[in-house]
Amino acid sequence: MPFYHRLGELPRKRHTQFRQPDGSLYKEQVMGTRGFSGIQSIVYHRYAPTAIGAFEDYGPVQIALEEPGALRHRHFRTAQLGRSGDAVLGRQPMLHNRDLTMSIALPNQPMQLADGRPYWYRNGQGDEVLFVHEGEGRLETTFGTLPFRRGDYLVIPIGTTWRLEASGPLRLLTIEARGGSIEPPRRYRNEYGQLMEHSPFCERDMRTPLELPAHDERGEFAVLVRANDRHTVHVLDHHPLDTVGWDGFLYPYAFNIEDFEPITGRIHQPPPVHQTFQGPNFVICSFVPRLFDYHPQAIPAPYNHSNVDSDEVLYYVEGNFMSRRGIEEASISLHPSGLPHGPHPGTAEASIGKERTEELAVMVDTFHPLYVARAATQIEDPKYPLSWIG
Ligand SMILES: [Fe+2]
Repeated sequence: MPFYHRLGELPRKRHTQFRQPDGSLYKEQVMGTRGFSGIQSIVYHRYAPTAIGAFEDYGPVQIALEEPGALRHRHFRTAQLGRSGDAVLGRQPMLHNRDLTMSIALPNQPMQLADGRPYWYRNGQGDEVLFVHEGEGRLETTFGTLPFRRGDYLVIPIGTTWRLEASGPLRLLTIEARGGSIEPPRRYRNEYGQLMEHSPFCERDMRTPLELPAHDERGEFAVLVRANDRHTVHVLDHHPLDTVGWDGFLYPYAFNIEDFEPITGRIHQPPPVHQTFQGPNFVICSFVPRLFDYHPQAIPAPYNHSNVDSDEVLYYVEGNFMSRRGIEEASISLHPSGLPHGPHPGTAEASIGKERTEELAVMVDTFHPLYVARAATQIEDPKYPLSWIG
């Protein structure tokens, strides 16, 4: 995050004595990125974060990909996926490349290992964004608790230990980066990191953890760690969320898509106006309800365009997506680089004179080609590539 935040108890100076009620030292942990040159936070634990009682290999993270075939536009109806597993291990991968994996999670159980043990999760490979399409609950983390609701982007930095507690059925779109940070676009920030006036959102829209329940329970606690495309279970003798205080710039936060203030114009605005985050070789954009273009001769539907060097993924959340037919809620479309895409026949003409759209969608553009997971081919709409024929 581009701003400083602190929560809980801290010593006045960093790296100085900070003692627990029994006289022992709290355990200080510096969590930093890019070798002490990137953003960081300093966390104070009741128990040593290094005290691992056992480590168990939990196997490789494997994504079954389809055999590459003809280049074409794709459409996957994720509403047809069944509920299974939990919010992490139950993720159903849809698209993948060397920079990110996009999955759908439709959990039907709390976070638990195959043997039934509950677990906390830590991704040691990159930042994650969980887009909450449906549901609400609490994200309990090293940095405190973040209540979440429908429409939230939950941005979870690399190295954060967390557990998701839902209070009902969830539908998540998950975007896992492989290295690098997922952060607000650089062009909206000034030299001090502050979001500027032309940004479609500001710091006030970012919800930080405000509650820090420092757990002191002892016992056996499993932390599932992802690193180097492998899962390992670390068994701790204390509750993993034992933070009594922290400060810094590295922490999870929530941003609700309803708080994205759309940028509109007299004529069609290009996709970068929808950008919400930048990641390593990808961007995440929000298409939200907004007024259409107001030039008297404007065509609100987008023009045909070629993503010459990027793949475009749209995840349709709700509303009527004006330029596409046959798309439903929770659909994913993939418009790969190498061929043009644009509005369906008739939709450009039909858009003229329309004053506003109620569409809600998340777009991910990747700068390296995406591969389709086999799970996605099971729910594919095979007619979509030919749907531009009038
Ligand atoms: Fe596009």
